[in-house]
Amino acid sequence: MPKLGINIDHVATLRQARGGMEPNPIEAALICENAGCDSIVAHLREDRRHINDNDVIHLRKRINTRFNLEMSMNQEIVGIALKIGPDQVTLVPEKRKELTTEGGLSVIKYEKRLAGIAELFEKKGIEVSVFINPDKNEIRSAIYIGIGVIEIHTGNYSLARDKRSQEKEFKKVKEAAEYAISKGLVVNAGHGLDYTNVKRIADIKGINELNIGHSIISRAVFTGIYKAVKDMKALIAG
Ligand code: PXP
Repeated sequence: MPKLGINIDHVATLRQARGGMEPNPIEAALICENAGCDSIVAHLREDRRHINDNDVIHLRKRINTRFNLEMSMNQEIVGIALKIGPDQVTLVPEKRKELTTEGGLSVIKYEKRLAGIAELFEKKGIEVSVFINPDKNEIRSAIYIGIGVIEIHTGNYSLARDKRSQEKEFKKVKEAAEYAISKGLVVNAGHGLDYTNVKRIADIKGINELNIGHSIISRAVFTGIYKAVKDMKALIAG
């Protein structure tokens, strides 16, 4: 059964709406852990629109599972991440104006820069993952520069509204995941997964972890985070 990583950025987004202390993303992370999640994901964006530097410091100190810090290749952020020492970093593309991460990172385009950044983290024993589109050429490029973990972008699969495009996007994710797994990579997936579309992705044989945020925190408004996480775990387990 794939593991479940919970992205808590959305709790911080709510806090930022009033600029105060509540709701506290650290408290949310601890409840997610109590409910059985396997890792906590937080994205320290360059504009600090939700998670801030203080949050990542406290997450590092307080969480008991694994801390997966999502981040761009920005030099300042890389420096902060090296200082904080999460268990894993997931490198993503980042645009100021986007509402959320819009696409995968092009490993092909940034091969040299990525290899350099990955080396800095690996020297510190921090696992490096790249968030990429379901594309075999990107996977080959990740293998070429020695990256052992990828997260496949499921955004297009999640956004597909009609049966035909859903099938098309699912096939892309499945084929990319199976290819990467056959090459020995650790394969995670995420973006836009919810209670209605997660099962097919969870059932892809060999998928290591699913990273989910928005749908769980949205459900938590009605059920509380503990139950929202439990419900997602149950769905993944089938
Ligand atoms: N994985 C990555 C790399 C992401 O950027 C995000 C969104 O921050 C997620 C997973 C979770 O996406 P969602 O909030 O849509 O579940």
